[in-house]
Amino acid sequence: MLADANVLITGGAGLVGSHLAEHLLDQGSTVHVVDDFSKGTRDRVPTEATLSTADLTDQAAVAEVITSDLDIVFHLAAYTDTNYHDGQKLFEQNTTMTHNVLERMKEVGVTNIAFTSSSTVYGEAATPTPEDYAPCEPISIYGCSKLADEALISTYAHSHGFQAWIFRFANIVGKHQRGTVIPDFIEKLLDDPETLEILGDGRQEKSYMHVSECVEAIQHVVENADNTLNTYNLGTRTTTSVTTIADIVTSEMDLDPDYSYTGGERGWSGDVPRMRLSIEKLASLGWEPSLSSHESVRRGTQDLLNELAPIST
Ligand SMILES: NC(=O)c1ccc[n+]([C@@H]2O[C@H](COP(=O)([O-])OP(=O)(O)OC[C@H]3O[C@@H](n4cnc5c(N)ncnc54)[C@H](O)[C@@H]3O)[C@@H](O)[C@H]2O)c1
Repeated sequence: MLADANVLITGGAGLVGSHLAEHLLDQGSTVHVVDDFSKGTRDRVPTEATLSTADLTDQAAVAEVITSDLDIVFHLAAYTDTNYHDGQKLFEQNTTMTHNVLERMKEVGVTNIAFTSSSTVYGEAATPTPEDYAPCEPISIYGCSKLADEALISTYAHSHGFQAWIFRFANIVGKHQRGTVIPDFIEKLLDDPETLEILGDGRQEKSYMHVSECVEAIQHVVENADNTLNTYNLGTRTTTSVTTIADIVTSEMDLDPDYSYTGGERGWSGDVPRMRLSIEKLASLGWEPSLSSHESVRRGTQDLLNELAPIST
């Protein structure tokens, strides 16, 4: 289905969006990318994709990029700093963008949307957490914005004839990643190879998935799940603690620093200390990740070190 599709990827200059653009181009899709480059960068967008610069909180800008000839919109653009400083801005930006995208799609008759949500919608849930876990009680404004976005998408699916695929991601790792635990450790170690400060007690235990597998799973679900609203967890079956991530990063950098911990069971207020998503629903649709959480972290670390190599040598 996606092989001949004309697709728009919002946030296509970010970590997942840029890999999704590459992956869909490989499948034969015609790919358009829109991004405001608040976090993503132009060099990540494949040259075969058409590229528009627009802030999707602006309705007029959204009208320019969402046109009736699109088959599907992959809506990934979001304010993604989970350890945020301005919760009101984060909530308003994410929900305004999603609402603008949906309204414009309705206006021009584009009714297929894939949306990237997050494990954070579940809050501090029992693990492994299935998609029908209830009640969803997010503990961060980021998780709250994602749950609100999901509710908007549900409304357009059930009342305006849309078909929607919602992906609740575990932690996604890979090349181009910025502002999360692996790049943070690498930056700190490049700065000071002798010591590494770890946020929290290091025992936070979460599931990591490599971006190459994430985009494959997205394609598989969009092509095979055909309900009006299809919600799927994407992750791995295993978890990795923050101290183990530090061990993997330091071994890949061939360093042996002393660790210091800031203490407490979470890295920051709103951080969920334990996350593992059930992927039974994904498996029953015929897709299973091949990398474990540890392997994903190692692969993601290698990707980032290869990317940084010209800078650090
Ligand atoms: N990476 C993860 O671990 C993870 C986990 C859960 C959910 N998600 C979700 O998956 C999606 C992709 O994540 P990512 O890691 O690639 O994030 P990212 O920050 O790398 O990419 C998001 C992109 O959106 C763009 N953007 C932000 N505000 C915009 C605006 N107003 N107008 C236009 N573009 C705007 C940014 O410039 C960036 O390129 C996001 O929706 C994120 O919330 C990611």
